[in-house]
Amino acid sequence: MTLRGQEALQNADIVVGFNTVLNVVRPWLTHAEVCPMSYRDQEQVLEYAETQVKLGRKCVVCCWGDLNVSARELLERVRRRADSVSLIPGISSVQVAMARTGISLEEAVFITLHKRAEANSELDELIHYLSEGRRHVILLPRPFDLMPAGIAEGLLKEGVRGDLPMRVYQRLTFGDEKLWTGQLRDCSEISEDFSDLSIMVFLSGDTPTQFPLSPGEA
Ligand SMILES: C[S@@+](CC[C@H](N)C(=O)[O-])C[C@H]1O[C@@H](n2cnc3c(N)ncnc32)[C@H](O)[C@@H]1O
Repeated sequence: MTLRGQEALQNADIVVGFNTVLNVVRPWLTHAEVCPMSYRDQEQVLEYAETQVKLGRKCVVCCWGDLNVSARELLERVRRRADSVSLIPGISSVQVAMARTGISLEEAVFITLHKRAEANSELDELIHYLSEGRRHVILLPRPFDLMPAGIAEGLLKEGVRGDLPMRVYQRLTFGDEKLWTGQLRDCSEISEDFSDLSIMVFLSGDTPTQFPLSPGEA
C-alpha cells in the first residue's frame, strides 16, 4: 500500500471493490461506507457509487496491485460513470514478481490472459516470445480456465521447449506467499490447484540457477 493510496482511503466516504481486495484495505478506512461487489453485480454497485458521488461523497474504487496493470475492464466501467477519475498507481504483482526473480522490466515482456474476451491473440503472442527466447515473459493466468498447468501443457503442444525454466508465484506479499520453480514440462504435470492470485515468469536464460530463489539468496 502506497502513502497516496492510504491517504485516499482515509479520506474516502465510500469504498468499492471486490471483497478479497476490500478485506486488505479495511485497516486504512476511517469512516467510509464499504461497498463490496462481485462480477455479477458490479454494474449495480458502481451505479450506487455514482449516485453517492453525485451527492458530493468521495468514492474510491480499489483493485489489486497497480490499476494500470490488467485492470482495464474495471477502469472502463468506472470511467463510463464518472466525469473525473484520479488514478493512484499502486505496486503491481508484476513488480513484486520481478523483484523476487531478480529481473528488470526492460528485459521482459508482459502478457495478461486475465480478461473476459477470447485470449487467442495473447496465447499466440506468448508462444511467439517464448519461441524467440530473447526476453523473459511475465504472464497473468486467467482464473480458473487458463491456469499454470493447462497453459504449460498447451505451450508444449505448440512446440515450446520443455526445459524452459519458469516460476509460478502465488499470493505474493501475503503471509502464505508460495513459489513453484521448475521447467515447463514439470509445470504441465502439476495436479494441485493454484491460487487465483498466481503469476508466471518464464526465464529466457538457459540455466534457472542463474536466478536466485529470492534476492536474499543471491
Ligand atoms: C485483474 S488482474 C489485476 C492485476 C493487478 N492490477 C496487479 O497490478 O497485480 C488479477 C491478477 O493479477 C495477479 N495478481 C494480483 N495480485 C497478486 C499477488 N499478490 N500474487 C500473485 N499474483 C497476483 C493474478 O494473476 C490475478 O489473477
